[in-house]
Amino acid sequence: MKYTAPLPTAPIGIFDSGVGGLSILSGLRELLPHENLLYLADTRYAPYGPKGEAFIRERSFAIVDFFLAQGVKAVVIACNTATAAAIAALRARYDVPFIGVEPAVKTAAALSARGIVGVLATSGTIASDRFIRLQDRFTAQVQILTRACPGLVELIEAPEFDTAALTALLLEFTAPMREKHADVLVLGCTHYSLIRALIQDVMGEGVRIVDAELAVARETRRRLEALGALTSSTAGGELRFFTSGDLLQQQRLLARYWGAAVAVSVF
Ligand code: DGL
Repeated sequence: MKYTAPLPTAPIGIFDSGVGGLSILSGLRELLPHENLLYLADTRYAPYGPKGEAFIRERSFAIVDFFLAQGVKAVVIACNTATAAAIAALRARYDVPFIGVEPAVKTAAALSARGIVGVLATSGTIASDRFIRLQDRFTAQVQILTRACPGLVELIEAPEFDTAALTALLLEFTAPMREKHADVLVLGCTHYSLIRALIQDVMGEGVRIVDAELAVARETRRRLEALGALTSSTAGGELRFFTSGDLLQQQRLLARYWGAAVAVSVF
């Protein structure tokens, strides 16, 4: 679908495989309180992590087609895995501006006093060419310990929040980083930011935990400003949720991680 410069009051579309992108959404809400936002959780096809790039690209095309039909003025890919797999193909296919998210390795490298940085992400992100290129830019400066975290997204999205099971998985995935005394840990999957407090407990107070939440919001604001596409409204922006999964389950997850009872529509 062709992008024709929409009105500044048009919404911004934000998507993730599930609720992980809510961490990005809260950054956007904070920095752009007057913008109308559409959030789409592609829950039926989650997790994206192990699915392979071709599949994730197809899902991203379907979601962006839907967003364009809703008249969005920009799309935020609130998912590291989908950014790695699909942002280049999306930019080649559509004119709408895309803002992606990638593990905050640059910030971590700058913050690390010991020169040892951990990165937790999905297997898809860690295996992607895009992440390998990003990592290569910093390996002269810091030692980077990466770990894919199979099963973590599933537990974060489980009907019951199981602190003991999450802690056990986190202890396993972060063991090499704790043994080597990494002093900065990058949350390279937007889902992980939702359990940041638990990750901080596992790592201990001395470890800085970084994600890309505010960087994405700042970049979105910068891009829209440059295009003259920021809303001039001074009213609170609207927020609408969509899911490809079960509506009731999605409402429960939103109540858990967004903190407000919200209406959800079917995608
Ligand atoms: N939240 C996503 C990310 O940032 C993907 C999680 C998944 O579906 O595997 O990578």
